[in-house]
Amino acid sequence: MIDQLTEKDIDVFASDVEKGLSAKPKYLSSKYFYDSTGDDLFREIMKLPEYYLTKCEYEILTTNRQKILGIIKPKDQEFDLIEFGAGDGFKTKVLLKYFLAKEVDFKYMPIDISENALEILRSGLIKTLPDLKYKPLQGEYFSALESLNKIDSCNKVILFLGSNIGNFSWTEANGFLSRLSDLLNNGDKVIIGFDLKKDPEVIRKAYDDSSGVTRAFNLNLLTRINNELDGNFDLTNFKHYATYNPQSGEARSFLVSKKKQDVRIGKLDRSFHFDLWESIYMEVSQKYDVETINELAIGNGFRVLDNLFDCKHYFVNSVWEKE
Ligand code: AVI
Repeated sequence: MIDQLTEKDIDVFASDVEKGLSAKPKYLSSKYFYDSTGDDLFREIMKLPEYYLTKCEYEILTTNRQKILGIIKPKDQEFDLIEFGAGDGFKTKVLLKYFLAKEVDFKYMPIDISENALEILRSGLIKTLPDLKYKPLQGEYFSALESLNKIDSCNKVILFLGSNIGNFSWTEANGFLSRLSDLLNNGDKVIIGFDLKKDPEVIRKAYDDSSGVTRAFNLNLLTRINNELDGNFDLTNFKHYATYNPQSGEARSFLVSKKKQDVRIGKLDRSFHFDLWESIYMEVSQKYDVETINELAIGNGFRVLDNLFDCKHYFVNSVWEKE
C-alpha cells in the first residue's frame, strides 16, 4: 500500500487495532502489514533463502507457461487476464511475456486498491512489454470485478498468486471463493497459488528467517501504530515467535510481550495492558494439501482442470474452471 491514507482509512485502522488489542487473546490483522516499509520488507522476504514460496511459484509458471496457455485460452477469442494483488508483477511477467510472444489476444487487468501501485506496475511493465494491453482496475477486488462485468463480456482468467489465499482463515477463504464464483460465468478460469504441507521445519523457518527480516516485518505493524495512531510501543519489549502446526497446516506468527507493560495509543485515548509473555496473534499462513484444495474448488462451484507443481512439490498452482 503506497497511497496516502485518508482520514477514513485511519479511523478504520484505529478501530480494528482497538478491537484486536482489547480481545482475549489479542490479535492484529496482517492486512495492515503493507505500508511502504512493509512493502519493502516483503520484497526482501521474497528474496530470502528460507522463503521458498516465490521461487517455487516462479519455477511453476516458467516451466508450465505453454501448458497454462493451452488450458486457459478460449478458442480464437480475446480474454481478460485479471490479477488480484499483482505486487510488482515479477511472476506474472513470465506469463505476459510468453502470451505476447505467441500473439495471444488478451488484456492484462491488475486490480489494486492503490492507484499509485497500479501506476508503478504499469511503468515497470511498459518498459519491457510495450505491446501489452494494460487496463488497470482501481478498487477493492470484488467491486472492481463487478464494475467490469457491467461493461465487458470477455472470457475471464483470474490470477490469485503467491499463496495470498493462505492469509485467510478457512471461513474467509470459502467466503472469498464463493463471492468470486458468483461474479464469474461458466467457462471462466481461475489460477490460484497454494503453499503445500511439507517438512514442518522448512515451513517454520520460512517465517522465522535467520536474518530477522520476517521479525522486522511483524514488528513494523507496531511501528505503524506508533506513527499513524500515536502509539508508544517499545519494539525491544516484544519478541517475534513463529509456529507451524502440521495437522491443521497453520503457520502462525505472534509478537510476545517480554515484560509486564502498558502501551498507550493516543488516537484511541487509551492504554492496553500486556502481562509478561502475553502475545498478539499477527498472521496465519495456511498450508494446504491437494485433497483440501479440491474440496475448496468443488464446494464453491469450480472444477479443477490441473494442478501444477514445482519439482519439490512444495507449492501448487491450481487451475480451475467455473461450472
Ligand atoms: C503475502 N503472504 C502470502 C505471505 C505469506 O507467506 O503468508 C506474507 C508473509 N508473512 C511472512 N512472510 C511472508
